Amino acid sequence: MNKNAIAPVKKQLELYIAQGNPYWNISPETATYIVSLLNTYKPMRVLEIGTSIGYSAICIGEALAAWGGTLVTIESHEERFSLAQKNIEDSTLENIIQVKGHAPEILKNIDGSFDLCFFDATKYEHLSYFNALKERINPHGIIITDNMLSHENELAEYKKTVEDDPQFESELVDVGTGLLVSHKIEKQ
Ligand SMILES: C[S@@+](CC[C@H](N)C(=O)[O-])C[C@H]1O[C@@H](n2cnc3c(N)ncnc32)[C@H](O)[C@@H]1O
Repeated sequence: MNKNAIAPVKKQLELYIAQGNPYWNISPETATYIVSLLNTYKPMRVLEIGTSIGYSAICIGEALAAWGGTLVTIESHEERFSLAQKNIEDSTLENIIQVKGHAPEILKNIDGSFDLCFFDATKYEHLSYFNALKERINPHGIIITDNMLSHENELAEYKKTVEDDPQFESELVDVGTGLLVSHKIEKQ
């Protein structure tokens, strides 16, 4: 990994975001907030659903590299998957594993558990990601869900389900399009 290679890639992607965000990437402010959570909890294995062209993946991968963590990131769209591949390659980060496919179908093919999951894909599928992954989140693990304020109505059922689940304690954070940060607590 060449640390100097990361900033120019992020800068280019942040330019796209500033120019109208055609690939629906998270805002730099959201990235900063997520990185601050990563730095606090230092997860070793992270899963992202919704890579797009790799902006959040590169921000997450860069943070995780500091303590040897890895990111698995899923994208179903052929062209965005390839653009992400190029951006990740240019960043020289070696701790990002890209998976191509439709998350509800391929989650079962990805082994193991996760310390943190970031849901940033099709809103109406978030509940299915939660149901498929909640037992695969390690104790004290975290789920971060994007678009909670921008898509409040579409995600109302998701929010209620997560908030009602006794295994999780959630906090709505007003950054970017709104994040639900759900911490897995010890089973009583
Ligand atoms: C909001 S963008 C992700 C942005 C990215 N996290 C970032 O901030 O750089 C959502 C992406 O999720 C992908 N997506 C949507 N539903 C998906 C699914 N079921 N499985 C895999 N990818 C999916 C879309 O193709 C799109 O590129």
